[in-house]
Amino acid sequence: MVIYKAKDYQDMSRKAANIISAQIIMKPNCVLGLATGSSPVGTYKQLIEWYKKGDLDFSQVTSVNLDEYKGLSPENDQSYRYFMNTNLFDHVNIDKTRTFVPDGLEADSEKACNDYNAVIRKQGGVDLQLLGLGHNGHIGFNEPGAAFEKETHCVDLTESTIEANKRFFESEDDVPRQAYTMGIKNIMQAKKILVVVSGEDKADILKEVLYGPITPKVPASILQLHNDVTIVADEAALSKI
Ligand code: GLP
Repeated sequence: MVIYKAKDYQDMSRKAANIISAQIIMKPNCVLGLATGSSPVGTYKQLIEWYKKGDLDFSQVTSVNLDEYKGLSPENDQSYRYFMNTNLFDHVNIDKTRTFVPDGLEADSEKACNDYNAVIRKQGGVDLQLLGLGHNGHIGFNEPGAAFEKETHCVDLTESTIEANKRFFESEDDVPRQAYTMGIKNIMQAKKILVVVSGEDKADILKEVLYGPITPKVPASILQLHNDVTIVADEAALSKI
């Protein structure tokens, strides 16, 4: 595991974007596993800037996103499809038909998850998976207690995740209670994993993830067993280490 200490959020974003750029340059038709949340937004901004300067080409890139709220349509401004469109896809030359997000409108959970696993498999796996870190150690929407061997599945969101995400919705009642998420098994099958972590509020959980026991109680702790993980965290997030 490699840990890069960034000065602040902006520096973290630039370092992470550098790693993603290197992946695209080395393998123009790579499969990127992408994430939502506030952590990767700056990384996407930086990638867009470099694309606009002519330094990056997304035309052959495929993307698979980690997760999607069950019940939200792509047009809903809180859906993760909408997030990806507005924060990255609409601003670069990626072919949108090669950008995949679980289908939040598929009411049959088993079908939604099986279809998504098939999509990931069809791309031949993920070259680089970008991850943010939830306050309770979740990755994607794999909440504490999630079995490590799961592939894409439907989850009931925990109270703490609903609480953390309610800032984006008009009221707590509007936050969906379920989501489709890639499982830990899908995440661990990525060739490379890049985790971006920012802020003092993530310092305790980051310490546990990196140096605590490997346990489903802290889903991201499994990353200790992956052979190619890069953590880019700012000083505040690394302040307890
Ligand atoms: C959500 C997402 C995760 C993300 C987490 C942290 O629950 N499903 O993929 O990593 O939030 O979000 P943030 O980066 O905003 O702290």
